[in-house]
Amino acid sequence: MNASTRTDNTAEPDGVVLSARQIGKHFGPIVALTGVDLELRAGEVTAIMGENGAGKSTLLKILTGDYQPDSGELRLGGEVMNFTDPAQSRAVGLRVIAQEPEIVPHVSVAENIYVGAIGHQGLLFNRAKLERQAAADLATYGFDRIVSPQTIGSQLSAAQRQVVEIMRAVIDKPRVICFDEPTSSLGDEESALLFALINTLRSEGVAVGYVSHRMNEIFRLADRITVLRDGKLVGTKAKADTDHNDLVKMMVGRDLSQLFSRERQVAGDPVIELQDVSTDDVSNIDLTVRAGEVVGVAGLVGAGRSELMKAIVGDLPVTSGTVLVKGKPVRFHSPADSIAAGIGFAPEERKAEALIMQRTVRDNIVLAILPKLARGFFVSEKREKQVAKTYVDQLRIRTPSTEQLVKNLSGGNQQKVVLARWLAHSPALLVLDEPTRGVDVGAKAEIYSIIDELAQQGVGILVVSSELPEVLGLSDRTYVMAGGRITGTLDRSEATEESILALAMTDTRASAAL
Ligand SMILES: Nc1ncnc2c1ncn2[C@@H]1O[C@H](COP(=O)(O)OP(=O)(O)OP(=O)(O)O)[C@@H](O)[C@H]1O
Ligand SMILES: [Mg+2]
Repeated sequence: MNASTRTDNTAEPDGVVLSARQIGKHFGPIVALTGVDLELRAGEVTAIMGENGAGKSTLLKILTGDYQPDSGELRLGGEVMNFTDPAQSRAVGLRVIAQEPEIVPHVSVAENIYVGAIGHQGLLFNRAKLERQAAADLATYGFDRIVSPQTIGSQLSAAQRQVVEIMRAVIDKPRVICFDEPTSSLGDEESALLFALINTLRSEGVAVGYVSHRMNEIFRLADRITVLRDGKLVGTKAKADTDHNDLVKMMVGRDLSQLFSRERQVAGDPVIELQDVSTDDVSNIDLTVRAGEVVGVAGLVGAGRSELMKAIVGDLPVTSGTVLVKGKPVRFHSPADSIAAGIGFAPEERKAEALIMQRTVRDNIVLAILPKLARGFFVSEKREKQVAKTYVDQLRIRTPSTEQLVKNLSGGNQQKVVLARWLAHSPALLVLDEPTRGVDVGAKAEIYSIIDELAQQGVGILVVSSELPEVLGLSDRTYVMAGGRITGTLDRSEATEESILALAMTDTRASAAL
């Protein structure tokens, strides 16, 4: 291991390796950052928190040279840096794990890891050696359980892409490494491996930056926490000097006391009924959602929750059983069929499955309602803009206008665009898979109140979430899944974290297979 770059990691006082002073950055009329200071210290994890659009990813992209700041100064080991290209920051030991890893689609994991790695170029000429080295490096961190060196880039899941991106950075033995919401695409096992890796890096004296919306991760990993709001620095605190409520207050700057406010009326007729439904992944599912009800689906990773949702919306085939929408039997052959039947779906992987990144906020919002807006063959642009504007305001989507490209929105605001599309569609049933993943506390509260409001308007809502407090807070009834089956149904009064977990760990398929 090349330790020489790390021993002199602390050229400034207090072990500061990287310091950013008074950083400013704007994109056209949008001020993304003003006067932001950040310090990353050797052997410490500094969390960077803030609501969606606060400027966290922009700050990290400035550290790498992906973006050039309008003002301010960056120092690494006490020396002023002016990166104009990410290759320059890599060369001096600074790495950022992006929110959206770029993977070369047609080459293997091993090649993806070592392309561009400093001092490893020789490996790229010898496939056997390359794969051996990749296998060994993956095994060092336990990632060999997640991804194999031979897999081709285009076949990787979101979690595997993230692991490849992390490995790329770690083998370069960086002095500074920053993670941008790494766990938003990771399952529990991968997350646990990542936390172990971060602890190793810390003990080796690396300066770590960590962006996340998840409080429990922050309190588990961070030594210090820097909070941004609206592109400005709110402050930096040692973990011991702050707590959950304090951080929320710093991030949001407003009171969030009604986080789970609910006013539910009596449920109406069923909007969807599944009777003994099976697919390739799930078996014998009985499930009902009534008008005005919020129904939760809980379960561990791999329990079949997302597969069930995809079957409901016609994205995966139902192999047996009956599906009734508003009492009538249906058989969907594609998501277009379910949309026509009044079902809206916000999938888990919103980037890949729900949004057209290269199109505007307006296009993405009106997508599902174009037939409704049309007068003859003609859809008026003015009408589209009005509709889009209504939802941008209602959901407080942070964008300069409805004509902004979705790819330029922050992650949480992209999720709001997906929700806006289905609000505009006024569906009978809305299926939400992990609706608040990557969404900050303030926007979460807004999304909860939107869900509540929709239920009051008589929409039936089916929510999959890995966050138990979310399931408990939202659901009138919760179905728990394990091993592709429903292992229990809990009414609001019976549902607790313990009762859900007990059912989630009852894997009937595993015992049936014995
Ligand atoms: N390339 C770009 N072009 C235009 N605007 C941009 C660009 N990149 C970022 N922005 C804007 O700058 C602001 C800060 O965005 P940034 O992505 O840094 O937020 P974030 O804190 O990472 O949010 P999230 O938690 O949602 O990921 C947002 O208003 C965003 O729309
Ligand atoms: Mg971001």
